[in-house]
Amino acid sequence: MKFGHFDDDRKEYVITTPKTPLPWINYLGSSEFFGLFSNTAGGYDFYKDAKLLRLTRYRYNNSPVDNSGRYYYIKDGDTIWNPGWQPVQTELDSYECRHGLGYSVITGAKNGIKAELTAFVPVHDPCEVNRLVITNEGSTERKLELFSYVEFCLWNAEDDSTNFQRNFSTGEVEVVGSTIYHKTEFRERRDHYAVYSVNVPVDGFDTSRDEFVGLYNGARNPQAVTEGHCHNSIAHGWALVGAHQINLTLAPGQSRTFIFVLGYCQCPRDKKFVSPGVINKEPADALLSRYQTPEQAEAALEELKEYWEGLLSTYNVDTPDQKLNRLVNIWNQYQCMVTFNMSRSASYFESGMGRGMGFRDSCQDLLGFVHLIPERARERIIDIANTQFSDGSTYHQYQPLTKKGNAAIGGGFNDDPLWLIAGTAAYLRETGDYSILDEDCAFDSDFSIARPLLDHLDLSFNFTASHLGPHGLPLIGRADWNDCLNLNCFSEEPGESFQTTGPSEGPVAESVFIGGMFVKYGNEYADILRHIGKDERAGQVEEAVALMKHTLETAGWDGDWFIRAFDAYSKPVGSHECEEGQIYIEPQGMCVMAGVGVESGKAEKALDSVKERLDTKYGIVLLNPAYTRYHVELGEISSYPPGYKENAGIFCHNNPWIACAETVLGHGARAFEVFKKTCPVYLEDISEIHRTEPYVYCQMVAGKDAPTFGEGKNSWLTGTAAWTFTTISQYILGIKPQLDGLMIDPCIPSDLKGYTLVRRFRGVNYHITVDNSAGAEKGVKQITVDGSPISGQIITPVTDRSDVTVSVVMG
Ligand code: GLC
Ligand code: GLC
Repeated sequence: MKFGHFDDDRKEYVITTPKTPLPWINYLGSSEFFGLFSNTAGGYDFYKDAKLLRLTRYRYNNSPVDNSGRYYYIKDGDTIWNPGWQPVQTELDSYECRHGLGYSVITGAKNGIKAELTAFVPVHDPCEVNRLVITNEGSTERKLELFSYVEFCLWNAEDDSTNFQRNFSTGEVEVVGSTIYHKTEFRERRDHYAVYSVNVPVDGFDTSRDEFVGLYNGARNPQAVTEGHCHNSIAHGWALVGAHQINLTLAPGQSRTFIFVLGYCQCPRDKKFVSPGVINKEPADALLSRYQTPEQAEAALEELKEYWEGLLSTYNVDTPDQKLNRLVNIWNQYQCMVTFNMSRSASYFESGMGRGMGFRDSCQDLLGFVHLIPERARERIIDIANTQFSDGSTYHQYQPLTKKGNAAIGGGFNDDPLWLIAGTAAYLRETGDYSILDEDCAFDSDFSIARPLLDHLDLSFNFTASHLGPHGLPLIGRADWNDCLNLNCFSEEPGESFQTTGPSEGPVAESVFIGGMFVKYGNEYADILRHIGKDERAGQVEEAVALMKHTLETAGWDGDWFIRAFDAYSKPVGSHECEEGQIYIEPQGMCVMAGVGVESGKAEKALDSVKERLDTKYGIVLLNPAYTRYHVELGEISSYPPGYKENAGIFCHNNPWIACAETVLGHGARAFEVFKKTCPVYLEDISEIHRTEPYVYCQMVAGKDAPTFGEGKNSWLTGTAAWTFTTISQYILGIKPQLDGLMIDPCIPSDLKGYTLVRRFRGVNYHITVDNSAGAEKGVKQITVDGSPISGQIITPVTDRSDVTVSVVMG
């Protein structure tokens, strides 16, 4: 069953009922100010850091779900309704929500009145703009009262939801005309306040939640709205809100447009106040002056749309499969931008208070983002490297505002260091900008001991090379990519963190998966070294990689697939010898992607085993058989009921590894089959089962052992976005940036007879036509660049023209 449809021309998903199986959300904002915006206008806003600078409140585990947001109430006689249905939930005569790229439009109508709400964050200003157009579609004059409503968060979202003994006494506001200033803590250490305003004179306002909503009411039946008038309240402590009242009379056919702005304003420290207690409103005045008229709002919205058009023109494919086109050209790249911006901090499943930026997560997010804005990828790589420790190990997470590592979690996740190589290598392949390797990067944010990024990469490689266990495989530490395989934890106490309990460095437990990474990213590192003339070091790296490859094929091989790990007793995990969890997906994907076992036939065997033992109609489960009881020696993985999360869920993040691995063996049909199974646009028709948004990937789909097989969870912020884009754009459609140029190496189903695409690479647009009338799955017979055949599959970067025509004949 569907709850909407794609509108590819406008690059929108159109939701046709507010009662989606879960809130279906969108992200507003592209660099500093962000808003989460659901299909009923729920969500919240923050500036740069979802934990530390949150403008509006949100309660995650509420009932009904998703009932805080930026809400507009229309009181029409005794009928009160919202254009997005929530929170009053008055049945609407019509409803539609269009989620576009960085903006959303909700249109609701009731009794001849239509309200169209367009929400977006401008490209260059730290604010959310809400344009509300109210139209009288009937034939008689109508009198209405319009109320706006947001609930302010006292900045630090965690403190805001816990420290009530303090917070009920600190809240402060000012109101001037139609503008509400939220200035809590501005009197002391903050130099910023929030502003909520509308571009017309108001008939009333409220800033005290108790006055507007009523102490024993809720957003569903706010007292002021029911009574038909605000109380002009000035809040002192307790809960602060911003609410405006506008009374309007609409002639038949008449429309009125209101521009509401919720913004973040910063003052120079020595100019915070204009008189005792009265804040400096200049920054707010300047911001608001840019959104006073419908024309200004429209221009800002147009600028946002052009911004996205420009970004998406970097990679645009035209195949006979419209679903594939919309995924690649629009939604997958969009999600890559969102994951780049958010890492795993703020979604409808990530509270924005916890994880900040993940080291491995952010490095992987780069893989799908670097082609969009390489300059921002460059900054991010340096930020990440600055948090590395001087022995090459890393913090697992860092906070976006301070850019410092999160000490509470610490390090010891032994896959982390190698991901820095993965992200940097992707940047170099995309840009050819080797100067990044000379950038001095700090250790643990200490710049006095900074060393060039290249040294950081070397330390990453060395860390793994020098932390090997009894089988010669990398030590796993607290966990590798799979946060829930905690082989050194042995937790028996409820509530203990599986990730940080126990020694961070067990002397025995080893990861075959990190071994696969070592081969893949070790090779990429050696490649970089050769390109900058460091042949001797490259040789050493290649030697260590060759040894690891051998170890993986011997100690890491179980007979029909790669083992997952060795536990703290040196017993295999993910082996036919195990009672449960006999085969895992991760080492099969990573080792084969790295080329391990390709010559010996082990790679082929491993992927056959995946198909036979892990594949299902909704994707490949993480392991099989699922753990049915808690295994203290394995940790969190066995804490989940069978079929959920890492315990045999379909973890969307590593399904693409298998698709990539299939292309390494030339299996185009199978690669595409794997790719399609977890791809949201192909699941739109079963939205009642899948439940999450059909335009973005989710982290996990319940596996075959789960009672809710096929149900998605944790949408938006997942490494799946970057990995699927890498898979489809590079491994399947075959446009692979290399250090030397652009490689063309498609691996597709034989019934895909051809496609065209435009790829902007190092400033040049390559217009590529792939002819597969031969019906091949892999193999390139001939490549012609501007009419001249080239030898090999790599196009040397063109520098003397901006457009290049490439024809590729497969066969
Ligand atoms: C989550 C984490 C990611 C981890 C994965 C598997 O998605 O964000 O870092 O690799 O789970 O445990
Ligand atoms: C939990 C989740 C896992 C995630 C981790 C992050 O363990 O199951 O997916 O990566 O938290 O800390």
